[in-house]
Amino acid sequence: MEYIRIKGGIPLRGEAGIQSSKNAALPILAAALLAKGTTVLEKCPRITDVYHMTAIMEELGCRIWWEEENLCIDTSQLSRFDICCPSARCMRSSCLFLGSLLGRLGQARLPYPGGCVIGKRPIDIHMEGLKSMGVVFTEQEEKINASVSRLEGCRIQLSYPSVGATENLLLAAVLAEGTTQIKGGAKEPEVEELSRFLNQMGARIRWKDGETLVIKGVKSLSPVTYQIVPDRIVAGTYLLAAVATRGKITLHNVPWGHLGALEVQLMKMGGRIRVLDHDVIFDASEAVHGLKEVRTLPYPGFPTDLQSQLAAALTLADSPSQIEETVFESRFAAMEELTKMQARIKIKERKIQIQPAAFLKGTDVHAGDLRGGAALVVAGLAAQGVTKVTGCEFLERGYSDIVKDIQSLGGRIEKVNQQP
Ligand code: EPZ
Repeated sequence: MEYIRIKGGIPLRGEAGIQSSKNAALPILAAALLAKGTTVLEKCPRITDVYHMTAIMEELGCRIWWEEENLCIDTSQLSRFDICCPSARCMRSSCLFLGSLLGRLGQARLPYPGGCVIGKRPIDIHMEGLKSMGVVFTEQEEKINASVSRLEGCRIQLSYPSVGATENLLLAAVLAEGTTQIKGGAKEPEVEELSRFLNQMGARIRWKDGETLVIKGVKSLSPVTYQIVPDRIVAGTYLLAAVATRGKITLHNVPWGHLGALEVQLMKMGGRIRVLDHDVIFDASEAVHGLKEVRTLPYPGFPTDLQSQLAAALTLADSPSQIEETVFESRFAAMEELTKMQARIKIKERKIQIQPAAFLKGTDVHAGDLRGGAALVVAGLAAQGVTKVTGCEFLERGYSDIVKDIQSLGGRIEKVNQQP
C-alpha cells in the first residue's frame, strides 16, 4: 500500500515552482473538442484528472500524445458522442463534455459525473441552461442523453454562480445560432481562462457590466496552442503549509493576482508577503494569530478549495478561529482526521470552530478527498513526530508531485510503497 510519510515539526525553508492549474486545464480540454485539428496545451499538468479527461477524448476518437510537458490533441477523427469510459465517473469535469459535444456534434451521452464526495453536486443548473438553448435531455440506463438540432442563443440567469455550469454554457454558446447572455455567471480565474482560450480559437466572448457574459455565436473555431496558467490552489496550499510550520518560503510562477482573498487572511495571521513579478517571498515565522470569521464564497471570495488547508494551518494559532463553508454542504471530512492529530475542532452547522491546540501529534490519517488530503499533509508538516497519510490517489488528482514540491520547500516528506 502507498502512503505519504511526514516527519513534522520543522519550519519550511526553501523554494518551489507552482504547477499548472487543474481547474483551468480540465474545461480547456473539453473545449478542445470544439475545433477540428490539433490543439497544443503547453505546460499541461500531469495529474490523474487530466489523464481521465484524455482517456475519454481518446474513446471519442481523438488522438492524444505528450511532447515533454505539452499535451497534443488531434480532434480530426472525433466521431463518437457516447461516453462509456469508466473515467467519466471518476471526476466532476466529465460533465463538461456535454457543452462541447453538443457544440461539435449536436449530441452527447454520458454517465452522471463523479468527483470528490464533498456534497450532492447536482448538475441541475447546467441542464436548465442547456435546455433554454434548445437541448433535449432524456435518461437511458442511468446515463444522461442530450441532443439538439441547433443550439439557439438566449438569455440565461444562473440561480447560483456555478463554475461548472458557467463553463458548460460557454462551451455550448460559442457555436450557437445568435447571441447568448449568461447573467450571474462564475467569475473564477479558471472561467476567465476558458473564455480566453475560446476567444483565441475564434469565439466572441466578453463581460458586459461585470455581471453578464455575452457570447456571439460563430460558425466554427480553430485549434490553437495555449499555455495553462499556474494553479492558485496549489500555491495557496504551500503558503498555508508555511503558516502551519512557521516557515519562510519562496514560490515561483505564482498567479498572485488570483490569491487576493488568501493574501488578506495570511496578513491577518501575521504573515509577511513580498511579491516580485511572479515570485512570492512569504515569511510566516510570526503567522500565529487565529481568524475570527472566514467564509468561503464564490470568487473573489475566499476559495472553498483552500478551506481544509486553512483549517489545518489554524489548529496551532494562538487564538480561536471559525471558517464557514458556504459553497459545499459537506466538505468537512478532513476535520475528523485532524482531530485524530489532537486538533481541537468542532463542526456546528456549516461552521468549523477551531480552538488553539498546544501541539499536533503525528499519527495515521486518511485522505478522503483531494483538498482534504492536502490539509492532512499541511497538518503532518506541523505535527510532532511522524504522520502517515493514506489515500495518495486523491492527492494525485490535483497535485502533480506534492512530495517533490514539499521536499524542495524543506519538508521531511516521502512517498512509501509498502509491499503487502
Ligand atoms: C469547481 O467545481 C471546481 N472543480 C471545484 O474544485 C471548486 O471547489 C468549485 O468549482 C467551486 O469553486 C473544477 O473546476 C474541476 P460549482 P464545480 O458548480 O464546478 C452547487 C477541487 O478541489 N451546484 O461552482 O462542481 C454545487 O453542489 C474541486 O479542485 C448545484 O447545486 O463547482 C455546489 O454546492 C473541488 N447545481 C455549488 O453549487 C449545479 O448544477 C458550487 O458548485 C451546479 C452546482
